[in-house]
Amino acid sequence: MPISYQSETRTFQLDTAHTSYILRVYDGGYLFHEYWGRRLRPVDLTRLHRAYGSGFSPNWPGAPDREHSLDLFPAEYPVYGGGDYRAPALEAAFPDGSRLLDLQYVSHTIRPDKPALPGLPSLDGGDGTLEITLADPTNGLKAVVSYTVYEDSDVIARHARIVNDTGETVRVNRALSASVDLPSMDYDMIGLYGAHTRERQVERVPLRHGMQALESRRGASSHQMNPFLALAAPNADETTGEVYGLTLIYSGNFIASAEVDSFNVTRVQIGLNPFDFSWKLEPGETFTAPEAVLTYSAEGLGRMSRNFHRVFRGHLGRVKETVRPNPIVINNWEATYFDFDEEKLCALIESCKGLGIDTFVLDDGWFGHRNDDTTSLGDWFINRKKLPRGLKPVIDCCHANGMNFGLWFEPEMVSEDSELYRAHPDWAIKKEGRPFCTGRDQLVLDLSRPEVVAYLKETIGGILAENDIFYVKWDMNRHITDQYSAGLPADRQPELLHRYMLGLYSLLDDLTSRFPQVIFEGCSGGGGRFDAGLLYYMPQVWTSDDSDAIERLKIQAGTSMVYPPRCMTAHVSAVPNHQVRRVTPFRTRGLVAMSASFGYELNPLSLSGEERAAIAEQTACYRRVNNLVAAGDFYRLASPFEGDAAAGADDAAWMFVSPDRSRAFAVYVRRLTTPAGPARVIRLQGLDPDAVYHIDELDGDFGGDELMYAGLATPYFMADFEALSFTLTRRV
Ligand code: DGJ
Repeated sequence: MPISYQSETRTFQLDTAHTSYILRVYDGGYLFHEYWGRRLRPVDLTRLHRAYGSGFSPNWPGAPDREHSLDLFPAEYPVYGGGDYRAPALEAAFPDGSRLLDLQYVSHTIRPDKPALPGLPSLDGGDGTLEITLADPTNGLKAVVSYTVYEDSDVIARHARIVNDTGETVRVNRALSASVDLPSMDYDMIGLYGAHTRERQVERVPLRHGMQALESRRGASSHQMNPFLALAAPNADETTGEVYGLTLIYSGNFIASAEVDSFNVTRVQIGLNPFDFSWKLEPGETFTAPEAVLTYSAEGLGRMSRNFHRVFRGHLGRVKETVRPNPIVINNWEATYFDFDEEKLCALIESCKGLGIDTFVLDDGWFGHRNDDTTSLGDWFINRKKLPRGLKPVIDCCHANGMNFGLWFEPEMVSEDSELYRAHPDWAIKKEGRPFCTGRDQLVLDLSRPEVVAYLKETIGGILAENDIFYVKWDMNRHITDQYSAGLPADRQPELLHRYMLGLYSLLDDLTSRFPQVIFEGCSGGGGRFDAGLLYYMPQVWTSDDSDAIERLKIQAGTSMVYPPRCMTAHVSAVPNHQVRRVTPFRTRGLVAMSASFGYELNPLSLSGEERAAIAEQTACYRRVNNLVAAGDFYRLASPFEGDAAAGADDAAWMFVSPDRSRAFAVYVRRLTTPAGPARVIRLQGLDPDAVYHIDELDGDFGGDELMYAGLATPYFMADFEALSFTLTRRV
């Protein structure tokens, strides 16, 4: 068991293959953090964590001396009101107005399995779980902090449960999932910020004293900031240096922060955003915080990402490898937008014959009287003007042409111009009697209300039951504002956004369990909700509404920091590209898209014979590399965030390596070409240095050592936006 407890020192040690995480119950019962980093033999580290200055840091009741202050010790689950002025993980208010807390060790259990988190997505399996119960000796409020070890991926999953054993109603105002005090500020903070059509851009800044936070207040994990934070040693790069990575299995408001105190201790935290959150906890009730996923890598950012990928591929809901092979999809959105009918769709489907595409997805516009984006959301019945005979002829046409059928929904939304809204205006999130905001002319349904969730279970479930649907694209095209629920009493209004997520998860749990054969693709105006919470139910997400291959280099590289490439949907789209008007070679669009869950977003009827032949070749190639993309280890070789045209390095490169290192697939994309530029050599990674690999595209054999240590030279490119692939097979 990778979890041990030394009763003499009251120390817990959690070991993974390469890391250790150590915590300890200190004298009186405080739970302190001792260590997180490279794997250690059992050790007593308390001496490392003493700060020397104690002025203005209050001493806890009965403290042995003036240096014993919660302000100075590394907390494991810090609270408000006991002399620690740094950000707490837990804040609660009691009926007498008091918010003071003090958590002391009560008991612990070590178990081989991992209980699921009620109502929330979480990792399964693992190699053992430690649960420590802490309680306030005065009022009895309890916090159970939970840790599950994933040895082979160097991951620890953490969450906390707040148990109200006080006999009174308590308001939980903040309940984070993880908090760790690291004894240094010598790190860069890395986050993934972005915007609609420009998601998950990597940003790296040195830590400074004080609080620095990444968060979403939008009711969704958002395009603007992803629930992820890494602390990387200043010299850490893709292959070397210390990196701590944290992410959250949650799709709503989050906070991920690093606070550096006067003694250069960094408190790193992640959890549900306390902004606009307060939860009324009745006596006997428990509040469960979402699960955080923590990993440490001594081998740079690449290893951190592979740790996340491995644990998600092995333990995160439907991302798990056994579920399915990735389909090759064609989606009609950029081909037709709202302008289609049965005849047009069938012509499009028929023209896919011979291309190797296996799934046709009918996007927005098939329901209500929706001919543009201003109407009909909520009216999930056929638009008879466009499809007088319903979906069946379109589905039959797919089947007749050897393809499966997929359908677009936006279940969480309602248009003002809809039968649903006219019948139930109070089902939308807004305050009756106040003017309200719309986004894309739509409102958000109040999924905190059980009757709304029940309606969606029945309606969406009904369509899935009545039709042969293989794939669902689940969109969500605005964020939440005008936060008010007609279904909640006044004192529970600050519960709305978390209750919304619980309602969404219950809906997704119902639909994915009732229709296990259906592949669900998440989408929120592209990648506005690309997080591990959604991925639990929807194993792939439309990564961005920007389908331009060159923009996708950054978006997909940023996304790969945390999420396995197989979870990103990427499609080859027409040129000039619909978002940036850029013209890129078909081959480049193909190689960028096939490094993810592959497909097309164009009208096959307007393709040249040459382009059709290219598609047939691309789909065949994807089938050959699909299992590498799905199950291989991913290595970033050249960063699109660091491109430098003058140095001949305005480029990006990445590769997939099979777990046994016998096969690999690498892609190199050059953005702007440079006349008479210097040579550009790319070093591969993850290969067996002692093996010899055949590279199909070069028709030659190369040593693994040569490819990794000396590298491969890229040719001179006569045009911009060219790309190359390298398909490697081990010979010996
Ligand atoms: C936003 C999505 O990201 C697009 O792919 C498309 O489905 C539109 N919504 C449809 O309205």
